[in-house]
Amino acid sequence: MLLTHATLATMTNGYGLIPDAAVAMDGNRIAWAGPMADLPATYRALPEHDANGRLVTPGLIDCHTHAVFAGHRAVEFELRLNGASYEEIAWAGGGILSTVTATRATSEDTLLALALPRVDQLIASGATTIEVKSGYGLTVTDELKMLRVARRIGLHRPVTVKTTHLAAHAIPPEYKGQPKAYIAEVALPSLRDAYADGLIDAVDAFCETIAFSVEDLAPLFAEARALGLPVKLHAEQLTDQGGAAFAARHAALSADHLEYLSAEGVAAMAAAGTVAVILPGAFYTLRESQLPPITALRDAGVPMAVATDLNPGSSPMASLTLAMNMACTLFRLTPAEALLGTTAHAARALGLADRGRIVPGLRADLCIWDADHPAEISYRIGATPLYKRIFGGHLDA
Ligand code: NIG
Ligand code: FE
Repeated sequence: MLLTHATLATMTNGYGLIPDAAVAMDGNRIAWAGPMADLPATYRALPEHDANGRLVTPGLIDCHTHAVFAGHRAVEFELRLNGASYEEIAWAGGGILSTVTATRATSEDTLLALALPRVDQLIASGATTIEVKSGYGLTVTDELKMLRVARRIGLHRPVTVKTTHLAAHAIPPEYKGQPKAYIAEVALPSLRDAYADGLIDAVDAFCETIAFSVEDLAPLFAEARALGLPVKLHAEQLTDQGGAAFAARHAALSADHLEYLSAEGVAAMAAAGTVAVILPGAFYTLRESQLPPITALRDAGVPMAVATDLNPGSSPMASLTLAMNMACTLFRLTPAEALLGTTAHAARALGLADRGRIVPGLRADLCIWDADHPAEISYRIGATPLYKRIFGGHLDA
């Protein structure tokens, strides 16, 4: 198909704006993009959709979600408002572990039915690619169950789903005080099984005092490397554990959260080309006061991505455009950085070289916005000016 009269933000060189532009698509790929006046004759006969001057961007990419889970944590939200901290709730067996109890008790089909409306909200905010992590099963069987659900989302919705093994998300009660035994007996076997079943694209972990140390995680990242799977890490969210530097040593695709990232961590990420995934929803929900070192990351040339971190505890938020707004207002990203963060840089955080910009040869995932300037996508609070989406060259009704 041929999209005409678009205000294109190609995301090459900042916004890479092209006024009155056309995008020609061949199958699920972009064949040509440029000014209407330069449109080659070969594409003029394609079925046309007139964007009427609307802004067209790459389809948005949510590169960090925990969209598969059962139950909710509204009661903990209330406990926190009555003075308890996220860590206190976690140590008392609540937090992630309360979602683990609910998720273990829920069937694969029900988990899928619970996840799809959340994914629909992400799609409504412009997402055409999402990442989904396991990490609320914490047994071999339940981690595999979650990963099968994550894979099945892509069969029911037009989004691309990248799945991430996150068995090292929390230490379940049966392994309390034994993180190394948990890694050896659950995280590693579930990683091998998930890999053998073709259920995962990457390996993640939660490096934190309430979860795993760098030392605990070394065998897991070694196994990921042996299997040829890329790694990423929840790092420096609540304290500085040297997680980002550890991840960078393993050539991680991304290190995520990063509120407590040190100057050494920034330098290690810059040297390794590891993407900084900024998660303002968790910062906001936990009323964190420590800001991630945005200026240092920017100055070091570390690419920054922005994601929802959609999860029942620290970020019950299913809007990428709200995450972009929060990244701008809370973290002082520019709207151009926020949009790069949900397009080109988010693609890189997932190891996807085939999307995130409007360039010939890349996947034709596009968003058409009722907007004329890309800053409008980040500017509105909780409103998404999305007009239509194109998934792999197909206009979504
Ligand atoms: O990214 N930090 C660890 N994992 C999630 C929290 C998950 C939860 O609280 O259920 C996060 O914030
Ligand atoms: Fe997370």
